Amino acid sequence: MRSLRIGLVGCGKFGAQMGRYINEYARVVAVCDQQILRAEETAKKLSLNPSVYTDYLQMFAHEKLDAVFITAANFVHAEITIAAAQCGLHVFCEKAMARNVAECWSMVNACCLHQVKLMVGHKRRLRPSWARMIELTRPEGSLGEPLAISIVQYADMRPYHYPGTWWANPINVGSSQAVLCPHTIDWIRAMCGDVVAVSALAGPRMHTGYLFPEILHVMYRFKSGAVATINTSFEFPLQFFREAQGPMVQCRHGGLKLTPQLTHIDLRWHRLDEALPHNERFEMAPDFDAAFRREVSDFFNWIDKGEPPCLTWLEGLRCVELMEAAELSAQQNGKQVELPLYPALEGLAPKSY
Ligand SMILES: NC(=O)c1ccc[n+]([C@@H]2O[C@H](COP(=O)([O-])OP(=O)(O)OC[C@H]3O[C@@H](n4cnc5c(N)ncnc54)[C@H](O)[C@@H]3O)[C@@H](O)[C@H]2O)c1
Repeated sequence: MRSLRIGLVGCGKFGAQMGRYINEYARVVAVCDQQILRAEETAKKLSLNPSVYTDYLQMFAHEKLDAVFITAANFVHAEITIAAAQCGLHVFCEKAMARNVAECWSMVNACCLHQVKLMVGHKRRLRPSWARMIELTRPEGSLGEPLAISIVQYADMRPYHYPGTWWANPINVGSSQAVLCPHTIDWIRAMCGDVVAVSALAGPRMHTGYLFPEILHVMYRFKSGAVATINTSFEFPLQFFREAQGPMVQCRHGGLKLTPQLTHIDLRWHRLDEALPHNERFEMAPDFDAAFRREVSDFFNWIDKGEPPCLTWLEGLRCVELMEAAELSAQQNGKQVELPLYPALEGLAPKSY
C-alpha cells in the first residue's frame, strides 16, 4: 500500500491534516491548491517533499497518480472528481460530497464509467464514541432500537470567520446544513437507516454575514418509524462547535446521551430496568485518529485488495439528499418533502457500482 501515489487537492485548513493520515498508509506525492502559498505550506507540513501545483489537471497529467484525495471547497468536489475519474484515478472526496444530488450522481456516473472507486469521508460514525452509540442500539446491544434522536447544534461559529468566505454562501456550499451537519446527518442514518420524509423551518434572520438562514430546525422520519431532529444556530455564544453536537437518543429499552467537551467525550446510557446509568469516557484526540485511520486505510485496502470499505459514495449522496430536502422544505415554510428526492435520477443510476 505504501507504494500508492496520491495527489491531494485542496490545501486549506483541512488538507494537511488529511495528508498526514494518508502518509501513514500511502504517499502524498503531489499537492494542489489554487492558492500557491497554501499548496506550498501544506507541502512543507507533509514529509516526502510532494510536488506543488495550482491546477489539478496539470497534476493529474504529470504525476502518475493512483488516487486523489479531494479536500478542496465543496463547490469544486464534483468537477475534480469527474476530471480524476476521466484520468483513471480513484477518488476519496471529503464531505459534503457536493452541493446537490444532481452533482453527486454526475460524480457516481463518471466513476462508474471509468471503473474507479469513489468514497466519501464521513468519519463521525467511525469515531469510537459515536460508533459505541450505534453498537448499543444493535440487536446484540443493551438499549434496543433507536426510536427518537434529538441533536441541538447551536454553536458559536464566530471564531471560524466564515462570513465573506465560500462557507457562508449557499451557491458554494449547497445548504446551510453543509457547514455544521454532514457528520451528524450521516450518523443519524447509521443509527436509524433510510429517511422517508424531511421537513424544516428557518428561524428569523440575524444578519450576521451568512447568505442563508442562520437558524434552521429540521425534522426527519425514517423508514423504521423513528424520528429525529437536528437544529442549528450559528451565533449561540454558550457552546463551541465541538461541544454543540451531542445527541440524546430514546431507545426501546432506555436512553443515551453524548456530551462532547473540548478534550473528551462523555457517554451516559441507562436501561429502563437498571437502577443506575453507565458512564463511559472517550479522549478526543484518539477518537479522531481512529476514525480517520479507518476511513483512509479502508480506501486503500479497497483499491489494493478489493476489500469492501466502511463507506462508499452512497452515504455521501444520501447525506446531500437530506440537506437538499431540508432546504426545499424550509423554502416552502416547512412543507414535508418525501424521499428519494429525485426518483428519476435513481432510475438512471448504475446498477452494479
Ligand atoms: N472530515 C472532516 O472532518 C472535515 C473537516 C474539515 C473540513 N472537511 C472538508 O474539507 C473541505 C475543505 O475544508 P477546509 O476547512 O480546509 O476549507 P478551506 O476553505 O480552508 O480550504 C479550501 C481550499 O480549497 C481550495 N480550492 C478551491 N477551489 C480549488 C480548485 N479548483 N483547485 C484547487 N484548490 C481549490 C481553496 O483555495 C482553499 O485553500 C470541505 O469540503 C470540508 O467540508 C472535512
